Amino acid sequence: MMTSARFAQRVLNIDISGIRKMFEAAGSNAINLGLGQPDFDTPLHIRQAAIDAINEGFTGYTYGAGIPELRTALSSKFERENNFNVTPNEIIVTSGASEALELAIASLVDPGDEVLIANPGFVSYNALVEIMGGKVVPVPLGGDLSLRPEDVLERITPRTKAFIVNSPANPTGAVQSRNDMKAFAEIADDHDITLISDEVYEHFIYEGEHVSPAQYSDNVITVNATSKTYSMTGWRLGYVAAKQHYIEQMIKVHQYVQACANSIAQKAAVAALNGPIEPVIQMRDEFRQRRDLLVGGLNSLGMRCDLPRGAFYAFPEVDDYMGVVNTLISNGIVVVPGTAFGSGGEGYMRLSYSTSQADIKRALMIMESVL
Ligand SMILES: Cc1ncc(COP(=O)(O)O)c(C=O)c1O
Repeated sequence: MMTSARFAQRVLNIDISGIRKMFEAAGSNAINLGLGQPDFDTPLHIRQAAIDAINEGFTGYTYGAGIPELRTALSSKFERENNFNVTPNEIIVTSGASEALELAIASLVDPGDEVLIANPGFVSYNALVEIMGGKVVPVPLGGDLSLRPEDVLERITPRTKAFIVNSPANPTGAVQSRNDMKAFAEIADDHDITLISDEVYEHFIYEGEHVSPAQYSDNVITVNATSKTYSMTGWRLGYVAAKQHYIEQMIKVHQYVQACANSIAQKAAVAALNGPIEPVIQMRDEFRQRRDLLVGGLNSLGMRCDLPRGAFYAFPEVDDYMGVVNTLISNGIVVVPGTAFGSGGEGYMRLSYSTSQADIKRALMIMESVL
């Protein structure tokens, strides 16, 4: 007989990600426009560093916060690319950006505390807040699908602990402006709340610039990973940077849930960060061409889609969007309904252009004939 395990209501309340359901519905020959990861090989010099690490026996636990050479490389990266200074001691190396988000949220949220999150937004944010017993306060997006500082501001209450900004954004591809980022930093300072800045798509911007809010405020936890930048999603290597008092709390959670990040992936990440940037630029250029191809095709099919300025997703507004999603899936094209990212995604669908131009062309031809 099965035992009647009495599960935590917090966990029972959480749904399985809507994205997974889409993969299961489409056949194995499907054209996959549902993926949230680059389809490129991890660059050779990074793979070689991992092979060397294994052969040299670098396979034990590391320092909890991460190997010093990686935290030093990350400290230089923040100064070089993100225009703010963090010491190696203000960085924790994590198991992907996912764990970095978990550390940030676990260290801040008590039961009943509120966290402001873009709706639609990346699926993990809501679930992580709810697992900690916190309350998600959804923030609708503006007409250009970006998060507006005034919409954040008007939802702040005495229970607000944090808000999350994700630029470039999943699922919309929106990129926040420098003025927005300054305004978000100011909100964090004025209200003594924490801005969690998820920057995993920072290198995939096609127009405009990436702005890290940590250059304007000390109340920022910066979350990032090698996952998207270097096409390393399966390596599970992320990091979090913040002022020392944040690190002191987050490291406790990290120690007990993770001990340390994967030792081999840490060595690979050193090679990634200290190595040439050209492979990343090549990926970005390829993504830009695919974006133009896909979005041009969607618009000519009558879907309303401005050119997303970042990440690798198109997020068109579509009449009868669930009907369209179901038609596409039954014709072997995987897309994700906007509502998988929150109620604010109603009327939209997400198409990832992390697949070859040939597949994108094929998908557009099928769409033209079945829609
Ligand atoms: C916005 C955003 N943040 C974080 C993550 C998780 O990244 P990681 O694979 O490094 O855990 C993703 C993955 O899709 C994402 O889209």
